[in-house]
Amino acid sequence: MKVKGKFITFEGVDGAGKSTHIDEVISLLTSKNIKVIKTREPGGTKLGEKLRDMLLHDEMDPETETLLMFAARRQHIAEIIKPALDEGLFVLSDRFTDATYAYQYGGKHVAYSKIEILESWVHSDFKADLTLLFDLPVEISIERLKKNRAPDKFEKESEAFFNRLRNVYLNLARQHPNRYRVINANQAIELVSHDVIEAVESIL
Ligand code: TMP
Repeated sequence: MKVKGKFITFEGVDGAGKSTHIDEVISLLTSKNIKVIKTREPGGTKLGEKLRDMLLHDEMDPETETLLMFAARRQHIAEIIKPALDEGLFVLSDRFTDATYAYQYGGKHVAYSKIEILESWVHSDFKADLTLLFDLPVEISIERLKKNRAPDKFEKESEAFFNRLRNVYLNLARQHPNRYRVINANQAIELVSHDVIEAVESIL
């Protein structure tokens, strides 16, 4: 029987720099002959990428947004994540369900209990093996976003919105200390990389 792969998720407020570090994790794993795929949410499948386009640009009711996030996620798990893990690959996902708690519950006040119902419907049997939370004071994340390309719908939200979602992430990290590693993203990039590599090596 093949050994199952591992599922690593990358979370944080926008502008925390997680994308750069995902590529470093790919290099680390590849150097150890571990097969890896990189994916993202919302998105990761043809259908999910269509939903992503709507989710990031069209205004909609927050509960509609939550349902569409989970519709995209269901397809992502069935089509990409589970088959890859069953093949023994490591799957690195730029965001997953914790982002729905942070953004739709924390940011937009969708009921926590409704997100829990969707989570248990869509993936009750399944959690990340490791979640790296790139944590950053919100003022800095907003400064970084200003230097970026045109902002999407979420990136245009208020400082209060970002503070709420950061707090939800930090609470999730406290609730799930075995799965979570909080990475201080407000330090020199080499130090961030060091912490990321150490966290990933801890599950190898
Ligand atoms: P990204 O910019 O990190 O690729 O993420 C896309 C945006 O989607 C980001 O602003 C966070 C948001 N998002 C949610 O609001 N809920 C979710 O469940 C996910 C996965 C992402």
